[in-house]
Amino acid sequence: MKYSKINGTGHAVPRQIYTNDDLAKIVDTNDEWIVSRTGIKQRHISTDETTTDLAYNAALKAIEASSVTLNDIEMVIVATVTPDHAFPGVSNLLQKRLGLDEIPTFDINAACSGFIYALNIADKMILSSAYNHILIIGAETLTRLTDWSDRNTCVLFGDGAGAMVISKSETPGIKDIIVGSRSDDEGHLICDSPALKNPYENKISQQDHIHMNGREVFKFATRVMPSTIVNLLERNNMHKDDIDYVVAHQANKRIIEKASKDVGIPMDKMYVNIQNYGNTSAASVPIAIDEAIRKGKLKPGDTFVTVAFGGGFTYGGALIKL
Ligand code: ACO
Repeated sequence: MKYSKINGTGHAVPRQIYTNDDLAKIVDTNDEWIVSRTGIKQRHISTDETTTDLAYNAALKAIEASSVTLNDIEMVIVATVTPDHAFPGVSNLLQKRLGLDEIPTFDINAACSGFIYALNIADKMILSSAYNHILIIGAETLTRLTDWSDRNTCVLFGDGAGAMVISKSETPGIKDIIVGSRSDDEGHLICDSPALKNPYENKISQQDHIHMNGREVFKFATRVMPSTIVNLLERNNMHKDDIDYVVAHQANKRIIEKASKDVGIPMDKMYVNIQNYGNTSAASVPIAIDEAIRKGKLKPGDTFVTVAFGGGFTYGGALIKL
């Protein structure tokens, strides 16, 4: 029986940091509101770094932390909703910068759950025995889609990238993955592409920034995060005490606290770094996992659950032994 495992992680963020006090100079908000309602204290915002720049820096660190070299990488998958171009994809641009041979490289969009979807694809590709080492990345410059006049959303987001080398292994590894989606047909979390524009139609896009019904997203998140953690445990005959850590998508500290309470896993086992980064969408989970590993919170042999939700509405979770 073959498995896949995490074989190296890395992350990168833009140089420029903006605090809540910085945002209070451009919209009617304040540090107390943002910290108490979200847990966010600051975020990194791209000035000149592209999504590909961030993905590249995170990828180099993940390769360096792994047991392989760039020559061993057989596929690159990038989860992003903010590629530099509609095409070529971030993964295709990375291929040249990383000096990779002719291997499959592609982007996927599953919003904030994108990294778990990428992990699922990499895991299944490795289990099929077609591949040995796959580089997966969650990378975003979400602040390009932010409406900087909307205090309901602009305080929430930040930019960054997280990367992992996923490799074939004799032992688990990635023990189980759940991915799913429930159509957000009412558009509670939406950002339009350019409007239909051709010689016969010229429609004006109404929503070229992120639009969010925060309360509806909050309700979805607080339902799906605990249920995904519980499903992963039940499917694998595990008890919550068997879990060393939960690394959740960093969208709102209150969402993580609610999941902790509902599943009965104490907050000191829930990794939280939203105070430093805000919500970095598909980059949030791999940034948090890499940081937890580098800080020694997640150690070789530990078993952890990672879980995410996002636009779509998509969701996903994975049960992983390091
Ligand atoms: N500063 C000060 N006041 C604010 C701010 C702000 N930045 N934002 C909203 N308010 C005000 C509102 O206008 C409202 O005032 P009112 O009562 O006079 O109308 C009041 O605060 C309360 O607003 P609520 O929306 O009820 O605040 P809530 O406690 O629900 O928190 C939040 C809002 C933080 C957005 C929360 O709903 C949330 O986190 N939702 C989930 C968001 C999320 O996870 N999004 C994922 C995005 S993923 C992606 O986009 C790729």
